[in-house]
Amino acid sequence: MPKKNQTLGEFIIENQSDFAYSSGELSRLINSIRLAAKVVNHEVNKAGLVDIIGAYGETNVQGEDQQKLDVMANETFIQTLTNREIVCGIASEESDDFITIPGCNNDHRNKYVVLIDPLDGSSNIDVNVSVGTIFSIYRRVTPLGTPVTKEDFLQAGNNQVAAGYIIYGTSTMLVYTTGRGVNGFTLNPALGSWYLSHPEMKFPETGRIYSINEGNYVHFPQGVKDYIKYCQEEKEDRPYTSRYIGSMVSDIHRNMIKGGIFIYPKSSTATNGKLRLLYECNPMAFIVEQAGGKATDGFRRIMDIQPTELHQRIPFFCGSTKMVEKAEEFMAKNER
Ligand code: AHG
Ligand code: MN
Ligand code: MN
Repeated sequence: MPKKNQTLGEFIIENQSDFAYSSGELSRLINSIRLAAKVVNHEVNKAGLVDIIGAYGETNVQGEDQQKLDVMANETFIQTLTNREIVCGIASEESDDFITIPGCNNDHRNKYVVLIDPLDGSSNIDVNVSVGTIFSIYRRVTPLGTPVTKEDFLQAGNNQVAAGYIIYGTSTMLVYTTGRGVNGFTLNPALGSWYLSHPEMKFPETGRIYSINEGNYVHFPQGVKDYIKYCQEEKEDRPYTSRYIGSMVSDIHRNMIKGGIFIYPKSSTATNGKLRLLYECNPMAFIVEQAGGKATDGFRRIMDIQPTELHQRIPFFCGSTKMVEKAEEFMAKNER
């Protein structure tokens, strides 16, 4: 039973034995993520003061402009995980290919791979709006003692052993799951410690917030257009409230606390939507489901989807179960 205000360190030790393959390795891994998160938090907090806002001048593998903080966060997480030699590979939204980490004595005996979106919502950095980090952890499927392959990363979300996000917001939080519910820790920046502030987080079954970039309305599938009109109708507890920060982590975090739905659909200009299955949707889906919510592509459960590409995109509907089910009804009535 999580105890409010216990530190993340205490929580990890107390709950280590709950984990099916407990060997301390996963705990060490989460420990290094919390360390990297503190470093990134420190940099994000200085964003207006030193020359780290703005474009880095390059595009990532997906053709998106990289921000300086995207690059810094990517390097910080990769360095921290590599130095500690606790993972055998890392795949990142900001890197073209996965990275192989041979580990101690070059023996490739570490069990876990990490997939990461080092900075989510990076277009918000320059305007002092919350950004985040998302991570997803799997056990490798190829034999220990051999270098990781793409197969270790292309696993369905169902295989995740842990997933989490960090929000660099009005306060900095780390929220994660190892498949036994979701717990949220807030950083005390003066002490550098994380405290359990949100034990056993739960999505309200329904809510009144819908989060979608309505500027793209004309490009949306008919089912999404109909659902938006449903949200705006004056009936029962509607019209709902529209809230869209443009940082998925923050939008979903708010909806998890208040009740709501987040949608990033496919559109006539982006046929698979924008969000990435491996770095964004699978980890968020694991957290959302562990908090009692639902995550689908409008038709299928996200975590059942077998990925085929590292940087694969997918439409994403997630949030309070009843709201996602209602949106799915509208999708089903229209084309797939
Ligand atoms: P990233 O910064 O990692 O590329 O992700 C941004 C994502 C997500 O956080 C957000 O919900 C969405 O992009 C916003 O996209 P639009 O500007 O198209 O609404
Ligand atoms: Mn992102
Ligand atoms: Mn990103």
